[in-house]
Amino acid sequence: MAKAKVAVLISGRGSNMAALLYAAKAADCPYEIVLVAANDPDAAGLTLAAAEGIPTFAHSHKGLKRAEFDQIIDAQLRRAGAHFVALAGYMRLLSPEFVAGWDNRMLNIHPSLLPLYKGLDTHQRAIDAGDSHAGCSVHVVTAELDDGPVLAQTPVAILPGDTPDSLAARILIAEHQLYSRTLAEFVGRERHPDWLLNQVREAALALPQADEIVSHGMPCFGIVKGKKFAYFTRNHHGDGITALLVKATAPDEQAMLIESDAERYYRPAYFGDEWVGIRLDLGDTDWDHIAGRLRASWLQVAPKKLLGLMDIADQF
Ligand code: GRF
Repeated sequence: MAKAKVAVLISGRGSNMAALLYAAKAADCPYEIVLVAANDPDAAGLTLAAAEGIPTFAHSHKGLKRAEFDQIIDAQLRRAGAHFVALAGYMRLLSPEFVAGWDNRMLNIHPSLLPLYKGLDTHQRAIDAGDSHAGCSVHVVTAELDDGPVLAQTPVAILPGDTPDSLAARILIAEHQLYSRTLAEFVGRERHPDWLLNQVREAALALPQADEIVSHGMPCFGIVKGKKFAYFTRNHHGDGITALLVKATAPDEQAMLIESDAERYYRPAYFGDEWVGIRLDLGDTDWDHIAGRLRASWLQVAPKKLLGLMDIADQF
């Protein structure tokens, strides 16, 4: 199975980036690093990444507006084919547009037990507070600094006589282990059938009068007391595939889609030409596209009365 493509953003030393990079060398690691980018051309981590054969990009943010600079980085991430971004000591506040473009695809590591001690000087603040433990957290990046759902944490004991530096050095050991493990789990969940079903379910049930039943052992979505517009297939007849089946919107659409991307689209057995299979387990699913396909499929089977409601809803 293809590995998830991850880009890492750094500003300095890049030891967390190195930890991710070396973890990625294991054959069974579910991600690969496709780019290391920095907002400081002198960031030490760039040299290491380049020596390890990873493409690098550096551009100083100086003199640029935040959104302008973020656009430059964003373009590089997309050019590299990144599907996820890992912030690793990236000392930049991010523009809302940039964050929105990587919604649920960008992680950060922070040296505290969040929600404690967001921002800088975390080690000093933990010592000053007399805490028994400091630690590190990996979280999904949202528009707020060091906010967003925490995915995993490692507590690290504060020792008598610890200075911010001695504590930081010990937390860093924990960071290096936590980040690669959490990133691997995070990219892996996108291939897990339960997670994929939940994504489909959320989008399908958001459509008017949609409900879920089980048919032929598959979760499927239809209009209440009406026709079905989507099936979720998971290892059906042992085919090893997790996919979504939706109605084609034109007679030859199935063939066209298969021709355009034979890895992703397929002709679902027993369903004829009117349905299209879309693989969800390739690790790069575009969920806006899936939501659009569900809606288009819903439109194929919705009774006229409901379609009228949709038209009205569209005007708002
Ligand atoms: C790490 O402590 C990380 O948690 C924080 O910045 C530091 C970066 O160190 N966000 P490095 O560049 O990964 O060595």
